[in-house]
Amino acid sequence: MPQAQETSTGLYEQMREKLAHVVPDVELRYKAELAHKINILKKERNAVVLGHNYMEPALYNSIPDFTGDSLELCRQAAKTTADIIVFCGVRFMAETAKILNPEKTVLIPSPRAGCSLAQSITAADVRELKARFPGVPVVTYVNTYADVKAESDICCTSGNAAKVVESLGAERVIFLPDEFLARNVARETGRKIIFPTRTPRSAEGERPDSLEYQMIGWQGRCEVHEKFTVQDITDIRRQFPDVVVLAHPECSPEVVDASDFSGSTAAMIAYVENTRAPRYLLLTECSMGDNIAAANPRKEMLRLCSVRCPHMNEITLEQTLAALEQTRYVVEVPEDIRLRALSAVQRMIAIG
Ligand code: 13P
Ligand code: SF4
Repeated sequence: MPQAQETSTGLYEQMREKLAHVVPDVELRYKAELAHKINILKKERNAVVLGHNYMEPALYNSIPDFTGDSLELCRQAAKTTADIIVFCGVRFMAETAKILNPEKTVLIPSPRAGCSLAQSITAADVRELKARFPGVPVVTYVNTYADVKAESDICCTSGNAAKVVESLGAERVIFLPDEFLARNVARETGRKIIFPTRTPRSAEGERPDSLEYQMIGWQGRCEVHEKFTVQDITDIRRQFPDVVVLAHPECSPEVVDASDFSGSTAAMIAYVENTRAPRYLLLTECSMGDNIAAANPRKEMLRLCSVRCPHMNEITLEQTLAALEQTRYVVEVPEDIRLRALSAVQRMIAIG
């Protein structure tokens, strides 16, 4: 976290202490200067920077006032008194901050920071499902856009999905849009799941309308986590028999099964901090491995960095500085949509 009387050299030294074994010195010097400029502007403009756990290590360790998983950043967005929120994460996260803070200016450093899950479903798709399954409550993963949240009863994140589903006490739940998270939650809560878009009403054998299925899912996928395979885990365990494998719940249930732990990005960070293994494999966006390695220099982080989130990687120190200098890119949510989405987000935050 930035110091009160920060100097460019002081910030560089602080960053070097944490990141010397992760980021080359020449890059650290350059990035420390950018970060220092951002921290000055932040104060001048009464801005808060929220940084998702996937941010690259120099950014992650210099400008955010708060870092965390989607759930923690929602909580921080709900509490902030700043005039401007700069969201170093992807668009659905910045939109959630705007939903919670209509009177504040919310900025996202890149307009291209999307998400394959948010892109996988529209508000019209949710309305069709609601018409097909009347009265069945809709849970949407926060990785959706505001108009989809507006059609939902409650949101969830990877950190509280099972808890949110169980809190409803409902016989059946529509859970959107991540197929793998839905399958993982179905298993965790002992429910049978069906994907009706794959199974026409008339299909023999599987009847989506049957009460035999307590969860109704959608077929969105995270373009990052869907790429990890059981074979990857087998190969890495062969090479490093003592490795502890952590998988985000956006990975397939087979990958989660073959892993030692599955949880949100914050839960994975806590798991590494609280266990003593010498070596971990992180099946999630590669930058988070750098951040955990920086915080735990005696533990080795293995990661498959050919699998990256192009959206999270859009967010750089250069773009964040430009965002504050030019007040760009402003995130807006139409008021009627915002109000409906707000109740779904607030219900989730109340559950924790
Ligand atoms: P977390 O909520 O676990 O931080 O995950 C967000 C995300 O986009 C994972 O790909
Ligand atoms: Fe979306 Fe996947 Fe990127 Fe997370 S890692 S922001 S779920 S595309």
